[in-house]
Amino acid sequence: MNILFVDQTAKLSGGELALLDIVTPYKGGSKVILFEDGPLRVELEKRQVKVKTIIPNNALNNVRRGSRIPMASLSSLVRLARSVAQEAKNFDFIFANSQKAGLISVLAGQLARKPVVWYLHDILSSEHFGKAQLFAARYTANKATQILVNSKSTKEALQILTGRTENTHLVYNAFNTEPFFQTTNSQENHRESLGFDSRPLVGVFGRLSPWKGQDVFLRTLAMMPNVQGLIVGSPMFGEDAYAQHLDQEIKTLGLENRVKLLGFRSDIPELMRTCDIVAHTSIAPEPFGRVIVEGMLSGRPVVASKSGGPNEIIENGVTGMLYTPGDAQALQSVLSEIINEPEQALLMAQRGRETALNRFSLDNMHKRLDDIITVYFNQQKTTLCGESV
Ligand code: UDP
Ligand code: GLC
Repeated sequence: MNILFVDQTAKLSGGELALLDIVTPYKGGSKVILFEDGPLRVELEKRQVKVKTIIPNNALNNVRRGSRIPMASLSSLVRLARSVAQEAKNFDFIFANSQKAGLISVLAGQLARKPVVWYLHDILSSEHFGKAQLFAARYTANKATQILVNSKSTKEALQILTGRTENTHLVYNAFNTEPFFQTTNSQENHRESLGFDSRPLVGVFGRLSPWKGQDVFLRTLAMMPNVQGLIVGSPMFGEDAYAQHLDQEIKTLGLENRVKLLGFRSDIPELMRTCDIVAHTSIAPEPFGRVIVEGMLSGRPVVASKSGGPNEIIENGVTGMLYTPGDAQALQSVLSEIINEPEQALLMAQRGRETALNRFSLDNMHKRLDDIITVYFNQQKTTLCGESV
């Protein structure tokens, strides 16, 4: 199968880390188009995947939450769709991995008469997106040939927004588990080198963004004077002010001596193993939540906010613990329970690890993707972007 993958960003956000694993087995006859240059291009090229960057003019990048789509953006969008269509002629189908990529790809698919598979990584609700983005997503969903969703929660929101139920398939993220088995540094040494002592250490991993709720974590730590905190991740989509706010909040709450912001890191498994607990703190429904599975794979007890993907990943009290999103007190209570019941916590972490290894393997995901793609191509060769040919 020769696939033209398309993604709007070249940053290493969750959807793009998922793409890296999806593309690899198809790399022989495939290519990835990115609408910007950045670390994703580097990672793809390290895996010998062909990449082309097509940079749209700025007008298109200015369409953000709540904004209207200006005319300049529309013409930029059409130009971009034409360029993607030109590329698509040499491939069996287009695989769009993000929202803007989805919109451009369905337009390109119609121009080049190629089917489009859209992998939706977002919960399409007004909590996450503005009207223009939801409008564009509705259009994309109506035109895409097949839609993949990263969780049942993502699927539900898609159905509420678009009414679409047919040709929509659940494909959970999958993980290369190898780095979760390597031990390069003992927990104590690593902890010390990061400037932490033997008191309980809780880690929060992921990009810095208001809806990821790192500020809730800080408020929780302010209530737990004997607990240390590690925040790993950087702002990726213009949330620099939030990163500064977190820095200031650490000072305001007097947490400078026991909380560290590490910025973006590439050694997540090792950092997770250095922590005693991995916490997920999103205050809006998390579409999937890779960091939750990674925490489980690291063999650490995981606590996650009870909304969206986490409900599908964690069996509460069995493979991890769920608490009310945005509730600093509730987070304190689950963390205290884990710290005060180490034997129970260990059992929970072991069950979490086994479950994660079984449910989120790369092999399972690749088989599932292959089935969806092959079945579609064998049965429905006559349908291109909703049009009969
Ligand atoms: N991540 C990373 N370095 C960091 C912070 C996060 O590599 O400093 C990775 C993390 O391991 C996870 C992904 O970024 O695989 C975040 O994915 P998730 O689904 O949790 O959230 P998203 O950012 O996609 O909404
Ligand atoms: C998006 C979502 C995240 C999900 C990731 C991979 O970035 O915000 O919840 O885990 O995609 O599907």
